[in-house]
Amino acid sequence: MREEQSRRRYNATDFLNPSHSTSFSSVKASHLSQTHHQTSHKMPVYVVTGANRGLGLEFTRQLASNPSNTILATVRAPETDLSDLHSIASATTHILPCDTSSATSISAFATSAATLLTPKDLNIDYLLNNAGTNTAPSQTSLSMTAEALSQNVQINVLGPAQVTAHLLAQNLLSPTVRIVNMSSGLGSMSVSLSITPRKCAPYSISKAGLNALTVQQSGEVREKLGGGAVVVCMDPGWVKTRMGGEGAVLEAEESIGGMLACVHGLGEGDNGRFFTYTGKEVPW
Ligand SMILES: NC(=O)c1ccc[n+]([C@@H]2O[C@H](COP(=O)([O-])OP(=O)(O)OC[C@H]3O[C@@H](n4cnc5c(N)ncnc54)[C@H](OP(=O)(O)O)[C@@H]3O)[C@@H](O)[C@H]2O)c1
Repeated sequence: MREEQSRRRYNATDFLNPSHSTSFSSVKASHLSQTHHQTSHKMPVYVVTGANRGLGLEFTRQLASNPSNTILATVRAPETDLSDLHSIASATTHILPCDTSSATSISAFATSAATLLTPKDLNIDYLLNNAGTNTAPSQTSLSMTAEALSQNVQINVLGPAQVTAHLLAQNLLSPTVRIVNMSSGLGSMSVSLSITPRKCAPYSISKAGLNALTVQQSGEVREKLGGGAVVVCMDPGWVKTRMGGEGAVLEAEESIGGMLACVHGLGEGDNGRFFTYTGKEVPW
């Protein structure tokens, strides 16, 4: 019933996440192939990119409430006001710079992560590629500039690709790592086809690219790590953050709570799939 109500609301107003206005095949989180990945590790390690505000901050807040979680919470600009992040950080939350639009910054982050984790014999169990941008949302396929498309692709596609690649190159990813690429309903071709007029062309195209990246990584990361890795993309819903805006329908707490439940329930058969924050499969 609640799902039906939110479908109606999305139909009327959805901006960033039109996903509920289309018909998904219903794959609930509880139906995901289960391996109980989370509990097999005494001290799980998470990486959250874009942790200073919005969904990244809420991921960090919920994860930091469990003192056995180690969190590498990354921020684009460490010189900015990080008081929100500091106020929710636990003793095992490490705030590190990582501008995901810069290969140099990503490489320096991977080195810092190795310095932190390797002496403790820890590796990364969950990589949450959350940082993203919606640059030039009013541009359409007919007005899109090279600059807008390139900025969206750089941050939304190349960023998650390079963060993953650099952490892998440092041998920091657990053989059963769960990697989440934060996508959007607008990254789905099927969902985008159902929206008239179409929305946020440069962003939408970049998130479709992120979905394609997920498919590529689901083969290559698994191959490199020997078989147990799972890479997925997720649609967080339309959430009240700076990007989602005040008209959004979901609180960050609900979106992130749902996504963490889904991520902790991921099994090997879920590799390369696309889920909503409620664990339903999204059509490509
Ligand atoms: N909110 C929604 O309704 C919604 C819907 C679908 C998908 N999403 C996706 O969910 C993710 C988080 O969105 P949000 O709603 O939390 O957005 P937000 O409130 O705008 O926050 C974006 C976060 O990404 C960071 N970021 C941007 N560019 C970066 C870069 N070059 N390097 C490192 N960090 C960077 C920002 O850091 P600064 O503060 O330093 O800029 C900020 O922490 C994004 O990938 C977004 O596309 C959101």
